[in-house]
Amino acid sequence: MTQDEQKKRVAREAIKYVVDRAYVGVGSGSTANYFIDELANIRNRIRGAVASSLRTEERLKSHAIPIAELASVDELPVYIDGADETTERGALIKGGGGALTREKIVAAVARKFVCIVDVSKVVGVLGNFPLPVEVIPMARSHVAQELVKLGGRPRLRPDCTTDNGNVILDVEGMRIVDPTDLETRINNIVGVVTNGLFARRAADVILVGTDQGVRTIDTHRL
Ligand code: A5P
Repeated sequence: MTQDEQKKRVAREAIKYVVDRAYVGVGSGSTANYFIDELANIRNRIRGAVASSLRTEERLKSHAIPIAELASVDELPVYIDGADETTERGALIKGGGGALTREKIVAAVARKFVCIVDVSKVVGVLGNFPLPVEVIPMARSHVAQELVKLGGRPRLRPDCTTDNGNVILDVEGMRIVDPTDLETRINNIVGVVTNGLFARRAADVILVGTDQGVRTIDTHRL
């Protein structure tokens, strides 16, 4: 089975977590795109979707799924999104697609965060995937110097402006044994908008697509 087929499996499984007559938060990336395609089949059951990026908003619109502004939504029972890496405890690296800040905001508001990944994304220790950090453009060299002090090798992502008008530094060489601590430290650097560690607000459920089927991990049961 290909990686794409595993992604489609988890996208299909994630539909079970969508709450009828409520809004659903929708992430960004190729796995989230498969979820949007599945969501289109049940669009009459939901009130609408909150998008975590402009690209996701466009795909939702292309399926005639109604869009809601996060600020005007009273309740968001669930947020469904992919990840670049995840531990079994639900700590994630996200932002490979550059949408980390809006993704983190929607995840913070949602009651339940369901992360959908193919099996290649599950790791013991985070950090093999370069950690994305969204930065206010004028602060990029200051932030880069501070990231070097934390042991990383930051690189400016070429030709990338985020939906919020900022730049991204991708940080290599981090072996992240304490993701919550590192998330806080990086967020405390002046000029950082947010970083791609989702550990303070980790995933509640991880759906892992494998050749054998979908494995469901409830991170609160571990
Ligand atoms: C987007 O900014 C990311 O956080 C994505 O969720 C992540 O990169 C996973 O993308 P894929 O589903 O395309 O692997």
